[in-house]
Amino acid sequence: MSAPPAALGAALRPEWPLDPAVTYLNHGGYGVTPNAVLQEQEVWRRRIERNPTHFFAEELPGLLRQAAAALAGHLGVRGEDVVFVDNATTGCNAVLRALDFVPGDEILITSLAYGAIAKAARHVASRGGARLVEAEIPLPVADDAAIIAAVAARLGPRTRLAIFDHVASHSALVLPVADLARLARGAGARVLIDGAHAPGLVPLDPAATGADWYVGNCHKWLMAPRGCGFLWAEPPLQRLIHPLAISHGYGAGFTAEFDWTGTRDPTPFLALPAALAFHRRLGGEALMARNTVLARAAARGLAEGWRTGLGGPESSFAAMATVRLPLAGEASPERALALRRRLADEHRIEVAVNAESGALWLRLAVQAYNEPADYQRLAGLW
Ligand SMILES: Cc1ncc(COP(=O)(O)O)c(C=O)c1O
Repeated sequence: MSAPPAALGAALRPEWPLDPAVTYLNHGGYGVTPNAVLQEQEVWRRRIERNPTHFFAEELPGLLRQAAAALAGHLGVRGEDVVFVDNATTGCNAVLRALDFVPGDEILITSLAYGAIAKAARHVASRGGARLVEAEIPLPVADDAAIIAAVAARLGPRTRLAIFDHVASHSALVLPVADLARLARGAGARVLIDGAHAPGLVPLDPAATGADWYVGNCHKWLMAPRGCGFLWAEPPLQRLIHPLAISHGYGAGFTAEFDWTGTRDPTPFLALPAALAFHRRLGGEALMARNTVLARAAARGLAEGWRTGLGGPESSFAAMATVRLPLAGEASPERALALRRRLADEHRIEVAVNAESGALWLRLAVQAYNEPADYQRLAGLW
């Protein structure tokens, strides 16, 4: 990798294939893969096609473990405790669907949970005759104590599993996951942390969160090619879970089961070390800190100008922050979608708009290619 860039922001934008006509403020949505990482992925694609039989049979098992070791090194955990999954949805489903629930059991989630994972939890609960319990946490959130109190109120002796988002999707709040995990484990529940947004957004050590299972995406903030998620599990808990697709590795252990789930494109995993190097070159932790400062300032500036407010305390936001739109009336998902489309079509601004707690919120995301002027474009629109 080349030398660190002299400055972040618009000057760096050509390092991504982003449309120059669009102000892109939704890095958190699907990630954006840098050109350098796409090139690395293409090198792997070409290498596979030279002799797929040799590659899959002889080379891939070792290469996957090397890539997992690189990720584990980045996270500060052991390589053998980390497996790749296609995305956070797959990783969370692998845990949820491998566990058995019986009538009387409860699965606890919060109202900040990602909708798809809440649906998966509902499915698994209903399949076992168990109950899905939701801790209500309306926006704006006052502080971490409010989140902890809401969860504590819904935890009980029947809670078998608690699911906490590390960085909640619609609200962008960084949850106090270590406190929540301690609380849930103290009540006798297992803990799954959905860290879809966390890697590359906040400094992360999955083991230190106190989770039993931690799922993350590398294709969002770590800038790996799309389709690169991981699952970390405490060694004694690894044998409890299985991939969604049971394959040749069944019964041979955690890494054997997850490393082969049928023929698929392994290039997002193999290009991950290049993405980690790219993230490091842009500053690593310093980049995350810079993005955090910029996201908080952008959200504060808009909220002051619009005389609205943020989705939570500024200190609870990292590289994404939510600000309430100065719009009265209906706050439905349909209106949020119409607004997102209008911003994209009429103003060429791509930004997430969500309806939550009876209001409409913009979720601002900040990545290395963004700069303050990007967010100032929004100020004049209302
Ligand atoms: C908290 C959370 N969980 C899960 C997901 C799903 O991620 P993916 O679509 O990569 O599976 C997201 C997506 O943004 C998310 O924010």
